[in-house]
Amino acid sequence: MTRVLLELDRVNMFFGGVQAIRDMSFSIMEGELAGIIGPNGAGKTTVFNVVSGVYSPTAGSIWFREQDITPLKAYQVNRLGIARTFQNLRLFGRLSALENVMTATQNRYRYSFHEKLTGFLSPSYRPDPDYHYSFIEVLSHMGRWAAREKHIRAKSMEFLDRVGLADRARQAAGTLPYGMQRRLEIARALALDPKLLLLDEPAAGMNPEEVFALNDLITGVHHDFKLTTLVIEHHMDMIMEICPHIICMNFGARIAEGNPEEIRSDRGVLSAYLGDEGAEA
Ligand SMILES: Nc1ncnc2c1ncn2[C@@H]1O[C@H](COP(=O)(O)OP(=O)(O)OP(=O)(O)O)[C@@H](O)[C@H]1O
Ligand SMILES: [Mg+2]
Repeated sequence: MTRVLLELDRVNMFFGGVQAIRDMSFSIMEGELAGIIGPNGAGKTTVFNVVSGVYSPTAGSIWFREQDITPLKAYQVNRLGIARTFQNLRLFGRLSALENVMTATQNRYRYSFHEKLTGFLSPSYRPDPDYHYSFIEVLSHMGRWAAREKHIRAKSMEFLDRVGLADRARQAAGTLPYGMQRRLEIARALALDPKLLLLDEPAAGMNPEEVFALNDLITGVHHDFKLTTLVIEHHMDMIMEICPHIICMNFGARIAEGNPEEIRSDRGVLSAYLGDEGAEA
């Protein structure tokens, strides 16, 4: 049985006098590949920002797996399993592609490692407070640390390979062509092992050939990882091609929702994109 994974309930967001989101309500079911479209300034990125905990909405609530996540901070939302990419890329430009993914893969293992470490260092762990670690013990911990690094590196390579960047692993992220940087961001988000993936204009700045390959990547990842995915796109064609469920926004509000056919023939959507005269035509 499929269930609701993400739900927005009458969400509003003000920035001073600007209302970026107006009474937005929608649900994304587990396993969906859904899209948000809308003209410049419609409020699409702000929806991602309130869902991912960058901003707390002015009013309304956000639910993820039946938990109210409205007040949570970005790192808490992330830990629950929501990963995103940014419209303005946020890579570590001087680190290699592989290292960029490793920072995310590491996050995924941090909790248990941290637990182990604090458990290890806590006074109750030691039989005697003056206990000194033997050389062998220190070596064995270094061994475990090295094994963990190796594992993270291998895992990260898998994600790079998935987005077609295995041969660029050692190249500094900032020197990769723009389209590859976008794919690298996706690899980083995947490395967090999310339950919900939010992609903010993944095709921005790509040429038609790259967009074609990106569509394949998004639908492939959605299928292979059984990963619920929500994609923001400015370009209608791409969304129409890959998303069976589309939400269209304008001036902060949802103006239409449905499948590609329904969206394509919606007068409100047409006039949002083409103006009233375009819709008439
Ligand atoms: N941090 C902020 N402070 C002030 N105003 C903001 C902020 N973030 C967004 N806005 C405003 O909210 C509105 C919606 O912006 P948003 O970035 O969500 O639109 P968008 O649909 O993602 O547009 P685009 O297609 O250009 O990316 C805009 O009027 C924008 O100027
Ligand atoms: Mg945006």
